[in-house]
Amino acid sequence: MTFSEAEKAAISSLAAKISPHADDFGAEALDRMFLSYPQTKTYFSHFDLSAGSKDLRSHGGKIVKAIGNAAQHVDDLDHALSSLSDLHAQKLRVDPGNFRLLSHSIQVALAAHFPGEFNAVAQAAWDKFLSAVSSVLVSKYR
Ligand code: HEM
Repeated sequence: MTFSEAEKAAISSLAAKISPHADDFGAEALDRMFLSYPQTKTYFSHFDLSAGSKDLRSHGGKIVKAIGNAAQHVDDLDHALSSLSDLHAQKLRVDPGNFRLLSHSIQVALAAHFPGEFNAVAQAAWDKFLSAVSSVLVSKYR
């Protein structure tokens, strides 16, 4: 998948804005996913899933950092996400349909926090970016 310069700008600008608040932003995206799609909680039975918990903030921070790293390597996501792809496909075996649910929750959190910048054009770029990230994370299932 290739990204235009305008798409890359929309992706990297918002990624830079969420990275200083990685734990909070990631915890909010996870909380939105668990509330809207409770079936996703099955993968996290070992976590305290209450809103703002230490587990959610720590895991949310990891997700946002991984997204920040991916945003800096949009032309080489396979390489940038290789070890995370091994983890999700071979060890965690997360059902691929769940990636859309997290991607949606991340986009809703972006819309809530950056209503001006996250306009339709930026959303389209992020939707494409998160689909590309998700494709890599589910590419090693067998
Ligand atoms: C672990 C990123 C989607 C379930 C992780 C880790 C990262 C990550 C960075 C930590 C890896 C480590 O500790 O080395 C992402 C990204 C996603 C994504 C960027 C998509 C944009 C999902 C989805 C699910 C999921 C959709 C399930 C609904 C898990 C689980 C763990 C994990 C269960 C292990 C948690 C633990 O026990 O610490 N993910 N993930 N991930 N992910 Fe994902």
